[in-house]
Order: sequence, then C-alpha cells, then structure tokens
Amino acid sequence: MQRKPISDGSLRLHDTSKETHMKIIHITDNHLVTPGDLLDGTDPLDRLDACIEAVNAHQGDAEFCVFSGDIADRGSTDVYQAFRRSAEKLTMDYHLMLGNHDDRDIFRENFPEVPADEYGFIQQAIKTDLGHILLLDTNAGMASWGEYCDQRTQWLRTQLAAAEGKPVYIFMHHPPFDIGLPSMDRIKLRDTQNFETAIEGFSNIRHIFLGHVHRTVYGTWKDISFSILPGTNHQVAFNFDVIRPVPHSLEPPAYGMVLIKQDQVTVHPHFYLENKDLPVRQDAERVK
Ligand SMILES: [Fe+2]
Repeated sequence: MQRKPISDGSLRLHDTSKETHMKIIHITDNHLVTPGDLLDGTDPLDRLDACIEAVNAHQGDAEFCVFSGDIADRGSTDVYQAFRRSAEKLTMDYHLMLGNHDDRDIFRENFPEVPADEYGFIQQAIKTDLGHILLLDTNAGMASWGEYCDQRTQWLRTQLAAAEGKPVYIFMHHPPFDIGLPSMDRIKLRDTQNFETAIEGFSNIRHIFLGHVHRTVYGTWKDISFSILPGTNHQVAFNFDVIRPVPHSLEPPAYGMVLIKQDQVTVHPHFYLENKDLPVRQDAERVK
C-alpha cells in the first residue's frame, strides 16, 4: 500500500481505554547506504525493512510515523529512493526529517512533496486534536553537530505562537542539551541560544522527541520531558571515556511506540529484532 509522506493533519482519535489518546510511531537514524552494502557489519536497509514489518504487524492503529533524521548515512539519490521504496510499505502516513548525515538539497530533489518552511528548511507543523507536533530541521550542512539559525528560530517562534496554548510536541534530530555522553555532547545542537530563546515563555511544550544519540535515553530538561531512541542499524556504545571518533556498538535496534493523551506522554521502545518472549498461557486474559 503506497502512502504519502505528508498528512493533512486531520487525525482519528482512539478510545480504547475510555480516554482519548493518539498513537504515533517514532523511528530514527536509519543510516541507509547503497543497497547491498553493509555498515558496521549489518545491512541498514534490511534492518529498516524489519522495523517497518514490525510496525505494520504491531502498530496498525497508529496515526502516523515520524522518521527523525539520518535517513541516509550519506545522502544520495540511490539511498533516498531505496528509503522511499521501503517507507512506502508502511500502512500509515509518514513524515520525514533531516539529520546531520542527510543532504538537504538531495533530499529535496528526492522528496519534493515534503513540506519546507519559507526559507527552504525541512520544518513543518502537524496539527492534531491533541496538540501541534513540530518537526524541526537542525542540519548544519556537512557538520556532525546541529545548528538552529535565526531563520529557523523565527519559524519556530511563529509556530509556538500559532499553537495558542495548545500542547506542543517537538521532534528534532540533535539534542539541544548535554546528556553526559562525551562523544555525543560534542556534536549536540551548537549555540543553543536561538533555540532556548525561541521556546522561552512557552509553557505548553510537553515533550521533545530526539534522534542522533543512537541510544535509549530519557529525562527532563527545563521541566520538559524528552526521549531518545536507538537507531535502526548500529548504536552508539555505552562508553563514557571516548570523545572521538564516536564509539559504535551492536546493541539491538528499536523504534518507539508513542501514546499521547491530554495529560500524559508514554514512549515504549520496541526492540523489534529481539524475540525473547516466554510462552503466554492459553487461558491468559486478553484485551478485547
Ligand atoms: Fe545517526
């Protein structure tokens, strides 16, 4: 089933627990290379396809999926077209963002339907009944770290004002703060003043969803909760000594199942290549 990488923002709402909630899927850091090639000994395209298969199998009631950047290990038409062929297998709409490994110009050539802001940055606002979801572009050209320039800041400020106090959920590739992991803190969002100024005075930002770090990390920053997920190919090692080059690991990949309610955000990482469930009793009580 072919899906469009854009949505008109009109969403269904679920009522499985007598409370209105919305499920979305967060996938990050796919790092696709030329189809058939390996990266860190594994096939990023195979692992993305396995992720999409798991999402389709378990998350058919999700509203949409957000890919939060580093779609490519090095942006090229071959890689972006391979990504499109895989993403089109999703049974839900999907939205795309840039990471530091992506190439904005080549991305725009290959995904002309993905909204950009008035300055050409890959930023968009998705309006839902449970709040506004903002997808930010922190790509800094060839650099590994992120940047948020004056133009992007102006767009964000406008979007935050347009939300008129409704809940806002932000997706951005680079964390705008340290997480205590030296190799990633070195390449976080740089010069965070613009971003911090943009969000200043807005108490309606409920959660920040991040990529870049290739690990499961969660916490709060400025009283805003945040979550970071593993990538779908390789991970960053649990190594707090090395600064550069970034140490990698083969810990398992995951995507995130995100449940949003009026007063709660819940993120469940699903390590979709692991199959270690113990048998469930036949007479187990099940959800109807
Ligand atoms: Fe990455």
